[in-house]
Amino acid sequence: MKILVTGANGFLGQHLTIYLAGKGYHIAACSRGICRITTPCLFEYYAIDLTDERSVLSLIGKVQPDVVIHTAAMSKPDECNTHKTACLLQNVETVKFLLQACKPLQTHFIYISTDFIFGENGPHSEDEVPAPMNFYGESKLLAENLVVSSGLRYAIVRPVFIYGPVLEGMRPSFLHWIKNNLEQHKFIKVVSDQQRTPTLVTDICKGIEVIVTQKQEGAFHLAGKDIISPFQMAVAVASFLKLDAALIENVTSDTFIETVQRAKHSGLKIDKARKILGYEPVSFEEGVQLTFN
Ligand SMILES: NC(=O)c1ccc[n+]([C@@H]2O[C@H](COP(=O)([O-])OP(=O)(O)OC[C@H]3O[C@@H](n4cnc5c(N)ncnc54)[C@H](OP(=O)(O)O)[C@@H]3O)[C@@H](O)[C@H]2O)c1
Repeated sequence: MKILVTGANGFLGQHLTIYLAGKGYHIAACSRGICRITTPCLFEYYAIDLTDERSVLSLIGKVQPDVVIHTAAMSKPDECNTHKTACLLQNVETVKFLLQACKPLQTHFIYISTDFIFGENGPHSEDEVPAPMNFYGESKLLAENLVVSSGLRYAIVRPVFIYGPVLEGMRPSFLHWIKNNLEQHKFIKVVSDQQRTPTLVTDICKGIEVIVTQKQEGAFHLAGKDIISPFQMAVAVASFLKLDAALIENVTSDTFIETVQRAKHSGLKIDKARKILGYEPVSFEEGVQLTFN
């Protein structure tokens, strides 16, 4: 079985490539520019801009993947909001190109979406009606709809607030931002009136592996099991790393001027993934240990 992972230089893409290659799957990884994965493991790498239709056709023709896991995206809501045309190109057109190229191969297409396709009143289950609150969410929903109507066998995976170990070449995550500031004895303000179900990246990798091997189809929420606020996350990081939690100021969202609207109560329910995939994520506390150990 040959698996193509797109966005292999990204946070999820790097972890997924290393995880699946480590399990012995035949992996072709692609991303923009040179490969930033430094962990030794066996995979082919292709530098590609997925917004170029011809390059996508040529890549799929060369790789002939049985499975595509499409993680590549413009993944920052603020960037999507200020660069709407580029966002549509990266988050929607690329999906169209990949689906078209995969059609003759009858590839199993696994699309990584987000909880941002939903609005308030989370945690949400797979069958709830989408109601994105910002342009990023809208673009991801447009892409989901393309996947659903593609005629290909597909799975849509929705994670929430992904965290985990930061490998060489990756951007620091929210948890690492907390650690770095507290280590430098800096005061930080963190919001307590937003709720999420943060997802350890290894849990998503495990869930995706089951989807691949069982050839599962449909939408799956691969999120964490704890519903917590960013403030609680920050305190958990301080507690595990024995840093001074008194430096973390508990604030509400209106402390910051937000250019992008975000749900206060987001998060995803994981009952379906538990039942069908046997998905069982770690607690946030365990996730913090696995992130920093
Ligand atoms: N991070 C989260 O908390 C979160 C939560 C829910 C859902 N998601 C979804 O999960 C997926 C992975 O997220 P992530 O945090 O791993 O994102 P990320 O770190 O931003 O990685 C995305 C990768 O895609 C690549 N990419 C973007 N446009 C491309 C293009 N046109 N051609 C080729 N490669 C391109 C980027 O390349 P460059 O490195 O060159 O920019 C980057 O390496 C995304 O689809 C995101 O929407 C993320």
